[in-house]
Amino acid sequence: MSREIKFILNGNPICIAIEEHWTLLYLLREKLGLTGTKEGCGRGECGACTVLVDGLAVNSCLYFAVETDGKNILTIEGLAAEDGSLHPLQKSFIENGGIQCGFCTPGMILSAKALLDENPRPTETDIKQALAGNLCRCTGYVQIIESIEAVVDKRIEDINVVVRETGDSD
Ligand code: FES
Ligand code: FES
Repeated sequence: MSREIKFILNGNPICIAIEEHWTLLYLLREKLGLTGTKEGCGRGECGACTVLVDGLAVNSCLYFAVETDGKNILTIEGLAAEDGSLHPLQKSFIENGGIQCGFCTPGMILSAKALLDENPRPTETDIKQALAGNLCRCTGYVQIIESIEAVVDKRIEDINVVVRETGDSD
């Protein structure tokens, strides 16, 4: 049965007729052309299809498109700034070798974003727990964790600089 849904996708309002059995992954890739979200296992085991729904990481292969009605969806295509500059996580994955074939990367980065939005100073254990549902067959995970830790370290350093500069001007 078809039904019309409305939601926000990467900051843009979408109104589209869908079939109730469609998954969010199918809607994104096959109907909206957003192929940055990857299809791996198709049954909730690999995390390649991870997107954010109202800020929470979900496996879009298991998430019915109809459930997105009224929600806010972020895919990897919506992560860069409006001027095209990459998100700090995207830059860090590139700079720290967190990407090899890249198939797992959109899901990894979105899981990491959900974590950092909720917990700006995660421990290594927090990061490993947040990425537990995201599989990578290439990197061995070390560089992925280092990529996320580098973003955390940079943010802390930036905050310290602001605090020092504010203190200096007093
Ligand atoms: Fe969704 Fe693997 S494709 S978890
Ligand atoms: Fe290839 Fe992760 S970089 S699967």
